[in-house]
Amino acid sequence: MDSLEQLVASAVQDFMAAQDDAAALENAKAKYLGKTGQITELMKGLGKLDPEQRKAQGALINAAKGQIEAALTARRDALADAQMQTRLNAEAIDVSLPGRGRAGGGIHPVMRTWERVEAIFRSIGFDVADGPEIENDWTNFTALNSPENHPARSMQDTFYIEGNDSEGKPLLLRTHTSPMQVRYARSHTPPIKVIAPGRTYRVDSDATHSPMFHQVEGLWIAENISFADLKGVYLNFVKAFFETDDLQVRFRPSYFPFTEPSAEIDIAFGSGPLKGRWLEVSGSGQVHPTVVRNFGLDPEKYIGFAFGSGLERLTMLRYGINDLRLFYEGDLRFLKQFN
Ligand code: DAH
Repeated sequence: MDSLEQLVASAVQDFMAAQDDAAALENAKAKYLGKTGQITELMKGLGKLDPEQRKAQGALINAAKGQIEAALTARRDALADAQMQTRLNAEAIDVSLPGRGRAGGGIHPVMRTWERVEAIFRSIGFDVADGPEIENDWTNFTALNSPENHPARSMQDTFYIEGNDSEGKPLLLRTHTSPMQVRYARSHTPPIKVIAPGRTYRVDSDATHSPMFHQVEGLWIAENISFADLKGVYLNFVKAFFETDDLQVRFRPSYFPFTEPSAEIDIAFGSGPLKGRWLEVSGSGQVHPTVVRNFGLDPEKYIGFAFGSGLERLTMLRYGINDLRLFYEGDLRFLKQFN
């Protein structure tokens, strides 16, 4: 009797001594309940007893065995609970912490202009086209009536790229969006009515020039499109873009190889801080017959106008910004004002 009670007590003690590793508890279990465990040995000894004693002793051993098993299960559960608790503590998350969040992005002011220009021209039936920034020298210059050694080329010094395209033409970063006139006209049939906004490049850097800048090209070619249409379209555009009817537009004679006649377009606001000052916003003109021919069209039949405006310039006038470099310094204090 005494020894059975001691056995149970010693088993409970061993189980309690087993800490968080499962092997320790299993070893302790084997010591009592395993094949050669102490309880098992006692069971084996029952055979030597006479039936009366066997029954009484057997009941006692079974009771002790039941206690040991219960202690084992209790310890197992306690260890599993403790393990779970440790894990929960380690993986705890503080649900009261503020979220990491994501800073709200915004649209760059020049991109905002780009989107507005597209929307305005789409509303009067212009298609919007996109083309390569790495352009070949024929499309950027020659097709636009600036043959090699033409002085107009040096006005648009750019970044040249080593090697030629698949047709052997030298490559460069396009100096204007005007090559898109050629690309678009050669792949569409008239009437052609398109704008092509995009990035352009020149070796230029000061308060009003950046080596990378944006232009939007416009082209309308059909059988009877005149300079008067250019005036109407552009006036409509600047009024919509600057959201005012209180402005004037003037066409100042100029020179571009790809137009004849050519004009700079100036605008003057009737009110506001820039009131009354003539501000240049675009180059324009009637497309030169040679260029129409390079479109693959008959200049006797097709005629029209083109223009090329700077998106930075339009943005600066709309918001009253006086240094173009601000657009590309990435200073959030500047950029945030437009969102
Ligand atoms: N491509 C000219 C430039 O970058 C701008 C320009 C002038 C475009 C007259 C035109 C145009 O389409 O007709 O300076």
